[in-house]
Amino acid sequence: MSEVATKLTEPTEYVQFWNDTLADKFDRFRHILMEGLSYHSRVPLERLTVTPGSRILDVGCGWGDTAIQLARKTGPDGYVLGVDCVEQFLTKARDDARKAGLDNIRFITEDVERYPFDGRFDLCFSRFGMMFFENPVLAMKNIRRALRPEGELIFIVWRSSDFNPWLGMAKEVVLRYLPEPGEGARSCGPGPFSMASTEVVSKQLEIAGFRDINFEQLDGPVTVGNSVQDAINFQLAIGPAGEVFREAGELAEQQRPEIEEALREALAYYQDDSGCIVMPSSSWCITARNPVSDH
Ligand SMILES: C[S@@+](CC[C@H](N)C(=O)[O-])C[C@H]1O[C@@H](n2cnc3c(N)ncnc32)[C@H](O)[C@@H]1O
Repeated sequence: MSEVATKLTEPTEYVQFWNDTLADKFDRFRHILMEGLSYHSRVPLERLTVTPGSRILDVGCGWGDTAIQLARKTGPDGYVLGVDCVEQFLTKARDDARKAGLDNIRFITEDVERYPFDGRFDLCFSRFGMMFFENPVLAMKNIRRALRPEGELIFIVWRSSDFNPWLGMAKEVVLRYLPEPGEGARSCGPGPFSMASTEVVSKQLEIAGFRDINFEQLDGPVTVGNSVQDAINFQLAIGPAGEVFREAGELAEQQRPEIEEALREALAYYQDDSGCIVMPSSSWCITARNPVSDH
């Protein structure tokens, strides 16, 4: 493989935010973000048939678990390229791939929206890595450029907050004590619900040149904490509630005991027999194809 892990572009404000603010928090809650939410990739990956020797791109691959699953599927004659804008995640991904004995997988730190892909991939996959682009249509066009004609795109995104109480409920609780983040709040990009609308995403994919667009609804459980306290810590660090808490600064710390108590009450309802917090969730598994004609 010829990809070289050199930085080709200056980081955008979102990429900077992922690196300087979210990376450590994500690492701290990897057991939730990678394993607890994995229902949503398990279903599509279990039934995905990959032709041995396929070249596969994993967009926003994080710690690389889905890239590793894909590398096993494509076998020694194929390869997987995992791309993520946070090197810290990829260090762990490379380590896990090495431990798994895989040498058909590579990880590079790049901004997927801007990286000059060259049209070699048979399949592009992403679990929750597509919802943070500065310009989603430009990013989709760039991903299409990575695909060979007839190449396939499969990506998983969250449906709206109404169907994902594991993200929405904690924000409602926190907003009883703290103000909404202001206009100037730093963020990770458009955010987890930015691709919830089938109309919007269909249009974006069409403009980007994709065809045969299909949405499949996946409803299933997510484990958002090993205990009530773990779930509270997670909610106050990451996601919509975490954003409100972070932006409120000193005021949030002053109110922490009351906020934690209110969250404890709300989250305890979802505690299972083993003590884990398990909540309902819903995503779209979206598939699309790069047409032959205009590539
Ligand atoms: C919600 S996480 C999902 C990570 C992983 N796919 C998983 O499911 O565990 C989103 C990932 O997208 C990455 N990301 C966000 N914007 C990106 C960009 N413009 N280019 C590359 N990666 C990006 C983040 O660093 C993060 O690892």
